Amino acid sequence: MAYGGPWTLIKLDVIEKYLNFYVTAMKNNFKLCYIDAFAGEGEFEVKNIGPTTGSALRALDYPFDRYLFIEKLEENVTKLNAAVNSKGENNVDIIAGDCNELLSRINSVSWYKSYWRGVIFLDPYAMELKWDSLKTISQTKAFDVWYLFPLSALTRNLRRDGKIDNKTKGTITSLLGTTEWETEMYFESPQMALFGETVEVERVSINNISKYIVKRLRTVFPGVADNPLILRNPINNSPLFLLCFAVSNQDRKAIELSLKAANHILTHSS
Ligand SMILES: C[S@@+](CC[C@H](N)C(=O)[O-])C[C@H]1O[C@@H](n2cnc3c(N)ncnc32)[C@H](O)[C@@H]1O
Repeated sequence: MAYGGPWTLIKLDVIEKYLNFYVTAMKNNFKLCYIDAFAGEGEFEVKNIGPTTGSALRALDYPFDRYLFIEKLEENVTKLNAAVNSKGENNVDIIAGDCNELLSRINSVSWYKSYWRGVIFLDPYAMELKWDSLKTISQTKAFDVWYLFPLSALTRNLRRDGKIDNKTKGTITSLLGTTEWETEMYFESPQMALFGETVEVERVSINNISKYIVKRLRTVFPGVADNPLILRNPINNSPLFLLCFAVSNQDRKAIELSLKAANHILTHSS
């Protein structure tokens, strides 16, 4: 079974609070769909707590009309299928595969015009989500998105000295959807320049990386929460993930409603 930490519980609490708000606000006017694109196996293990229910099974407690769970690992799909079947749900589709591939086709359905609305939870371990997937989600104009952005995986790959191999550069570009990060994530070290040495670079702070992620999301989504939650490892306080929220609906009132709820939940979670 996969492992999670205290930050996993915070993340799930945020998502559940939003799902609770969402179904209450939307159920009378729309058909509702929940998509869990990194669905997992149904549960995971937390140290000192034990087996804990994961995002996909938790979502079933909120009355969406349809649930779509995507998971790459066959063995996880098998376990998730068994868990869903034991709950007797018949409006759940579990798809085995790479979510980037499946999400690339998400806007082939006219969700918006046929009065479907929904929430997508993107919960990768590391840098598995391609930026293009966010673009196609945004084109639906129908889904609100919670994205657990892999802050520590990104900073691990953004070497402090800026010397990054081409393969890693490609992965970061695919994660962020631009090569602009090569200049945005680094600045010339003033210390080195002062002593007349060859100019070296330094990496920007975690706060500036977080602001940049929000700025990137704003290039794609009409509404983005400006207070994403940094989830930290309680042992050493190191940042692990950035829990971001974005709205694909272009209607001003819909954006305001979703952002108000998400901002409130983010502000009151830690
Ligand atoms: C952090 S876990 C998700 C945990 C889950 N949300 C939960 O709360 O139980 C990430 C999951 O995504 C799966 N995964 C990794 N890459 C994927 C991809 N490209 N498409 C779909 N699933 C993927 C992994 O096998 C793993 O089960």
